[in-house]
Amino acid sequence: MNVFEAIKNRRSIRKYQKKNVSDAILQKILDAGNWAPSAANRQPWEFVIVRNAETKNRLQEIIDENVVISATWESRFATYLDRYGRFVKTAPVVVIVLADPLKTGPHVFGEETYMLSAGAAIQNILLAAHAMGLGTVWISMYDEFKVKELIKAPKGYKVVGVIPIGYPAEKREKSRIKLDKKIHFEKF
Ligand SMILES: Cc1cc2nc3c(=O)[nH]c(=O)nc-3n(C[C@H](O)[C@H](O)[C@H](O)COP(=O)(O)O)c2cc1C
Repeated sequence: MNVFEAIKNRRSIRKYQKKNVSDAILQKILDAGNWAPSAANRQPWEFVIVRNAETKNRLQEIIDENVVISATWESRFATYLDRYGRFVKTAPVVVIVLADPLKTGPHVFGEETYMLSAGAAIQNILLAAHAMGLGTVWISMYDEFKVKELIKAPKGYKVVGVIPIGYPAEKREKSRIKLDKKIHFEKF
C-alpha cells in the first residue's frame, strides 16, 4: 500500500474482531509513531499500551461519562453513546498517547507545539495500523485527569488521544469537503 492509498482509504473503525494484535505488530505501529516529526526533534510523546480488561473497562466508563455529558450539553450528541461510546473496551489493545509540555519547541509563541508533535505521532500510528490491515480511531472524549489517574501518568503530561486498535469488523465510508473550498491563493 503506498502512502496516498493509506491516507485516502484509512477510516475510523469502531468495531473490532476478537482476534489479538501481536506485540510485534504493535511495536511496528508504535515505531511509526515514534518516527513522526516533532518541533526541535523533542519527541514529546509517550505511549501507554493497555491490554488489561479491567483497565479497558474503567477507560470505557471514563469515555462514556464524557460522551453522556457532551450529549446533555448539545442535543445533536444524543446518539453519541451508541455511535461513539461503548466500543473502546472491545478492542484487543488500546494505546494512550501522552505528551510532555516540557518537550515543546523553542518557539516564543508556540508553546503548544508538543501537542502538534504528538498529533503527528498519532496520525503516523493510524496510517501504519491501516497499512497493516488494522482498524483504529482517535478518541478525544474523556476526562483526561481520570485517564491519567487510571494509568498513573506523571502530573504535567497531557493526554493527546486514546487509540483502540484491532482487526476491523466494519467497513466505513466518509467524504471530505472539496479541496477547492480549502485552498486559497496568495491570501485567505
Ligand atoms: C482530534 C480528533 C478527535 C476525535 N475524537 C473522536 C472521539 O472522541 N470519538 C470518536 O468516535 N471519534 C473521534 N474522532 C474520529 C473522527 O470522528 C473521524 O476522524 C472523522 O469523523 C472522519 O472520519 P474518518 O476518520 O473515518 O475519515 C476524532 C478524530 C480526531 C482527529
